Amino acid sequence: MSTLLQHAQIDWDDQGRPHSRQYDDVYFAVNEGIDETKHVFLEQTRLRERFAALAPHACLVIGETGFGTGMNFFCAWQLFAAQAHPDARLHFVSVERYPLSHADMARALSLWPELAAFSQPLLAQYVAVHPGFQQFTFDNGRVTLTLLIGDVLEQLPQLDAQVDVWFLDGFAPAKNPDMWTPELFAQLARLSGPGTVLGTFTTTGWVRRSLVEAGFAMKKVPGIGKKWEVMSGEYTGQTAPALNAPWYGRPPVSQGPRQALVIGAGLAGSATARSLANRGWQVTVLERHDAPAREASGNPQGVLYLKLSAHGTALSQMILSGFGYTRRQLERLQRGHDWDACGVLQLAFDSREVERQAKLAGAFDNSLLRSLARDEAEAIAGVALPAGGLFYPEGGWVHPPALCQTQLQHPGIHLLMHQQVITLRQADGLWQAWDGERLVASAPVAVLAGAADVRRFEPCAQLPLKRIRGQITRLPATARSRLLATVVCAEGYVAPPRGDEHTLGASFDFHSDDLTPTVAEHQGNLALLDEISTDLAERLDTGALDPEQLQGRAAFRCTSPDYLPIVGPVADSQAFNEVYAVLGKDARQVPDVPCPWLEGLYVNSGHGSRGLITAPLCGELIAAWVTGEPLPLPRAVAEACHPNRFGLRKLIRGK
Ligand SMILES: Cc1cc2nc3c(=O)[nH]c(=O)nc-3n(C[C@H](O)[C@H](O)[C@H](O)COP(=O)(O)OP(=O)(O)OC[C@H]3O[C@@H](n4cnc5c(N)ncnc54)[C@H](O)[C@@H]3O)c2cc1C
Ligand SMILES: C[S@@+](CC[C@H](N)C(=O)[O-])C[C@H]1O[C@@H](n2cnc3c(N)ncnc32)[C@H](O)[C@@H]1O
Repeated sequence: MSTLLQHAQIDWDDQGRPHSRQYDDVYFAVNEGIDETKHVFLEQTRLRERFAALAPHACLVIGETGFGTGMNFFCAWQLFAAQAHPDARLHFVSVERYPLSHADMARALSLWPELAAFSQPLLAQYVAVHPGFQQFTFDNGRVTLTLLIGDVLEQLPQLDAQVDVWFLDGFAPAKNPDMWTPELFAQLARLSGPGTVLGTFTTTGWVRRSLVEAGFAMKKVPGIGKKWEVMSGEYTGQTAPALNAPWYGRPPVSQGPRQALVIGAGLAGSATARSLANRGWQVTVLERHDAPAREASGNPQGVLYLKLSAHGTALSQMILSGFGYTRRQLERLQRGHDWDACGVLQLAFDSREVERQAKLAGAFDNSLLRSLARDEAEAIAGVALPAGGLFYPEGGWVHPPALCQTQLQHPGIHLLMHQQVITLRQADGLWQAWDGERLVASAPVAVLAGAADVRRFEPCAQLPLKRIRGQITRLPATARSRLLATVVCAEGYVAPPRGDEHTLGASFDFHSDDLTPTVAEHQGNLALLDEISTDLAERLDTGALDPEQLQGRAAFRCTSPDYLPIVGPVADSQAFNEVYAVLGKDARQVPDVPCPWLEGLYVNSGHGSRGLITAPLCGELIAAWVTGEPLPLPRAVAEACHPNRFGLRKLIRGK
């Protein structure tokens, strides 16, 4: 799978319109761009009627091949805004192999001032668009865009969705034969169900025949402008059998009232609550402290640190998708105060790191990361450094409590503080949260987002979560330390100041259960700073600081053995072991037995040292599991994060 981003190469004609150098074709017809979109895609798929008929809270899913400049998306959203019930939702999934650069996108969008209400919000969030699944949220969560960046034949097989309407775009079959293939049509069929419709501008005979073979009833209809005829179709084929094993299947979508409990108001709980509230759910968040973000999510500054792999592992894919999603969410926060996109520099501090960085520099596009020699790194960082390294220009720091609070500010979210949930009981189709003898709240859906403490609840008691204590040190900024212009990481990290303080982190202690900050760990953090930059240490005058007087805080990270978060629906572990016991004898057997889900129960935990990157997108993942919407991550990545993976491994390997 390719991790290397390739932007569209665009030539602009004398009237300022884009032309693809890669495909030698135009993005839209010369005069009738918008009219053609409306005719081919909106009218042929009867989108107006479909939007108008959407029940409150229902979600229409549109799939598209070839996002290009996004015109089809903007036109569909415009029609949705005009026609659909205010509580209905639109989820638009589009594949794009060569995304436009920000500058080209801005230039293309300026061609349609009449679509500005839809195109400008995209432009404002058009950052960190890297290969894989990239999710966007618009209009207070009413509209979701999932861009799959990569080749359609590589991306669509990873999509878990039920698509209602297809826009079959992409340059003309003669110019782009690699896309218009039976493999593509088979994917369209796999993702379609009874009543799924399709619109396309092409009437090419073999395309029509292949679509018919794939299960679409196709008909030619009058075209528009220079296009004499176009085509529309309806899926009349078989519904594809689920590809995934039952233990990774979709649990039943809750049919009861759209009410949920979320236990824990850190990054994971706040994000989950927001993703559900954005979909019209009433969410009660239960938090034992007097405010959100009092535990791991309570540091003054955390870093958007991307620990990627050149091999496109599930974790690396999750990080790239999560990073993009978090970055777009941060655009809603106050820059400079709550976060800053000042970049992150990872120093090449030893030979292993030099080697690792060289591989990454070869595997990823330089809009994501680039190698810097020492003098270049120093020029960017504003302080003297011991080495060069990898620079992530879109990275930065975040004040995690601000992100939690922003996520929780939604009329559908009710935050109850000082609520320590001791037990969880299932009664009459509801999950009840009890604080001793007191029933605190109940709802048909409950999401456990209490980091390692999710194990206190019996259904999650078996999850292999580990707590790792970490301590940060707050260092008063000086006039000379303020010149630090980017986050710098080696074994530890230091950020440019937020207000009058830099955050320096962080220690790792696998044994201690005590959260009182220790002098020894402050000293350890100062040693980490010396490795990062003795110049910065000197600017901060650390030699003159009394370690006994240093301020900081400690909290527990919560990690899983494979370092992936644990996110998804929860099964009854005893019943699971019984119904799938045969796997212990023959792991290739896939018993045709539905997974014994604990209906309505979900977990969002195990975000380790990178919750800023993984937790917000995992809120979307939970919401997609709960509501049956398209998953915001490749199927394989969602399975790699699935709570059932451990029970399954235990059955297969006996450990
Ligand atoms: C020292 C340190 C430095 C870090 N640096 C970074 C960094 O630079 N970048 C980064 O991305 N990540 C960093 N992390 C990791 C990041 O902070 C975590 O991944 C993230 O905060 C986890 O969020 P969470 O919501 O899962 O857990 P938490 O923030 O711990 O939230 C869990 C919440 O659940 C509540 N809760 C639990 N059980 C109950 C119950 N029974 N009833 C009611 N409430 C309950 C808790 O009170 C808590 O508020 C760091 C972590 C530490 C400790
Ligand atoms: C005609 S343009 C899309 C027009 C678009 N609707 C718009 O308004 O700009 C076709 C798009 O399909 C993309 N594309 C072509 N082949 C592809 C493939 N195999 N996988 C993914 N995207 C592809 C191109 O990069 C291009 O952006």
